[in-house]
Amino acid sequence: MNRTAAGDLRTVFGAAYLVVSCAMSCQALAADAKQTFLDNCAACHGEDARGVKDQGADLTTSPLVKRSSDATLIEFLKMGRQPDAPDSTMKLLMPAFDYLSDEDLAKAVAYARNPK
Ligand code: HEC
Repeated sequence: MNRTAAGDLRTVFGAAYLVVSCAMSCQALAADAKQTFLDNCAACHGEDARGVKDQGADLTTSPLVKRSSDATLIEFLKMGRQPDAPDSTMKLLMPAFDYLSDEDLAKAVAYARNPK
């Protein structure tokens, strides 16, 4: 085998390795995001993020979720929303998640955007 072919092979295996390892870690990340949402949000927003009646808003149709950046949503989650806030949609309390890390909040946001 000449040097070029060996180099090509290394490149091919290298790329394949990257694809496989990404597939595994991306799946792990998605599972992690789901677990974070189930642990902290699903009681009110449902496992499918569609909202539980009289408990939490449907996040899959939420304009706020759609139009806001991840950073904005993380800030929102840290503050929560009081039932008497002018922008309240259900006149119910959205609790403040100031005790969760930005990383966990980012996971919850990722799942809310893409609940599966
Ligand atoms: C105790 C119930 C409860 C929990 C737990 C909860 N929420 Fe909420 N959430 C609500 C309620 C109720 C509202 C609607 C508040 C209102 O009346 O405006 C809301 C609103 C929201 C909104 C704004 C929707 C909009 O269109 O205005 C987002 C985003 C959201 N929640 C995300 C989350 C995430 C992510 C978690 C987990 C980290 C979570 N919530 C946990 C009850 C909850």
